[in-house]
Amino acid sequence: MLKQIFARLAPRRHAEAARPLAAPSGSIVELPPVSPASLPASYAERQANAAGIEGMFSTFSMQIMDAVLAQQARMGCTGHIFEFGVWRGRSACLLSGHVRDGERLVLCDIGQYLTEEVLGRLYVRPEFVLGSSAGFRHVMDLGPLRGRVRFAHVDSSHSYQDTLAEMRLVDELLAPDGVACLDDFANLNYSQILPAVFRYLSTTDTDLEFFLVSNDKGYLCRRAAFADYGAFVLGHLVDEVRARGTDNVMLARTDAQPEYRAFYVRQAAAGEAGPFFGEHLYGEFYRSP
Ligand SMILES: C[S@@+](CC[C@H](N)C(=O)[O-])C[C@H]1O[C@@H](n2cnc3c(N)ncnc32)[C@H](O)[C@@H]1O
Repeated sequence: MLKQIFARLAPRRHAEAARPLAAPSGSIVELPPVSPASLPASYAERQANAAGIEGMFSTFSMQIMDAVLAQQARMGCTGHIFEFGVWRGRSACLLSGHVRDGERLVLCDIGQYLTEEVLGRLYVRPEFVLGSSAGFRHVMDLGPLRGRVRFAHVDSSHSYQDTLAEMRLVDELLAPDGVACLDDFANLNYSQILPAVFRYLSTTDTDLEFFLVSNDKGYLCRRAAFADYGAFVLGHLVDEVRARGTDNVMLARTDAQPEYRAFYVRQAAAGEAGPFFGEHLYGEFYRSP
């Protein structure tokens, strides 16, 4: 258990050690010229490739994120993909398997920990900003990204102020049908994420809202895209995750208000029958997105 806790802390602690080395506002760094891997034929291949890289991105989280990205392809959603907090590149590897022609993969971290071996596992060559997410807007030309990012993965310091700044940036860059995924959204070891996110959502003129949460991640979309993403979660997510290798998938939704109507996805507890938690009590919340 202690080993697991340490493994989970290590990257952020390492990040603190790396902080003084990075310029305050950062810079775009040239990565070693490694040829990308050929595009994966299947999800199993994407998962195995990413799992071969050190990191804490769990198999269940990979399956959910991959299913959301695959749904974007079905919806004809196009745009760039970016990530704050890359560490050794495990989640970046999964993301890279979804980048299509004309789309960019932009990574940002206060340390550059991607080895040539890892770069050879990525399916596209990423752009890399060495610096903090707070300084990202001073380094990267946001013009071509504004309103054109279809998937943003936020997994950096998890501090209150960084989370607020990241929410602002995500809101500025996300496409109308884009998705932002916040790591550790509901992890109370980082309990500051919750107030930072809800402060942003309730005190700004944003149209972002959660459509899906898990124990590890929270997924947001624009209000106008909720019908599409909500219908996907309700009608297909369980099967999509099963097809990726986890059978006991459950959805929970025990309220649905205009202000908050997200689904929770998790694995069933022993003896629990799915796929809808408390359907006899909360059936009305599973009838439509
Ligand atoms: C938990 S790791 C990321 C794990 C990675 N997303 C994965 O799933 O494999 C957190 C990363 O955030 C980076 N980080 C910490 N503070 C940051 C900041 N303010 N801006 C950008 N990156 C930051 C750290 O250097 C570290 O590499």
